[in-house]
Amino acid sequence: MNPVGGGFAMSKYEDNSNSRLRIGILASGTGSNFDAIAEAIDSGRVDADISVLLCNRPEAKVLDKAKARGVCVEILRHGDFDTRESFDAALADILDHAEVGLVVLAGFDRIISATLLRRFPNRVINIHPALLPAFKGTDAQGQAAAYGVAIAGATVHFVDEDVDHGAIIIQAAVPVAPGEAANSVRQRILAQEHRIYPYAVQLFAEGRLSIVGRKVIVKGRKSPGDEAVISPPLPD
Ligand code: GAR
Repeated sequence: MNPVGGGFAMSKYEDNSNSRLRIGILASGTGSNFDAIAEAIDSGRVDADISVLLCNRPEAKVLDKAKARGVCVEILRHGDFDTRESFDAALADILDHAEVGLVVLAGFDRIISATLLRRFPNRVINIHPALLPAFKGTDAQGQAAAYGVAIAGATVHFVDEDVDHGAIIIQAAVPVAPGEAANSVRQRILAQEHRIYPYAVQLFAEGRLSIVGRKVIVKGRKSPGDEAVISPPLPD
């Protein structure tokens, strides 16, 4: 078993430094997941600090949220770079400089290449608004609504070189009403995202995540249902 935090990723328990986990958040949009993580840190539910918010879109609302919280912000327009690799190398340089131990993708709309992943092996996580492996790619909630699923959800996973593919840390499910509009499904999933993403960061910070094959083992988990996130009932 490979503890994520030992041979692969850093955590305060595995590297014996007792230092708080420093995270770098990459986002492109509204930033509600950024806010959920920041709020969880402020309330003591997550033992980490946000060292930097990296954003590729100067108009993104997440920038205001980060500035309002006094988080260091770096804007890097992907269009200013010739290749995905050169963009990712620049991102990795900033993350390195900020001494980040975990890279958190929170609505980041660029595919992460091996250039960045190699510099942060097993230290990049993502949230995807679907129950992977279903509905990979863009507009997962719209895909789920159009497909007519009865259950949708969100997934936090480690990032590997294939899109929406890496080992799954936690998932949350929500019911979908027959004929329900994509936006309504989107909001219900988002509420679960805001619960499970900070929780996943905290599991990493505590050094409790190990990867075995493509499975994530959560140390100290007492029973399979112990840490399940149960979705709220459908509104009338
Ligand atoms: C979230 O729903 C997140 O799951 C999704 O983008 C949204 C960002 O919202 N990410 C993806 O679709 C990645 N494939 P936010 O900016 O309010 O956190």
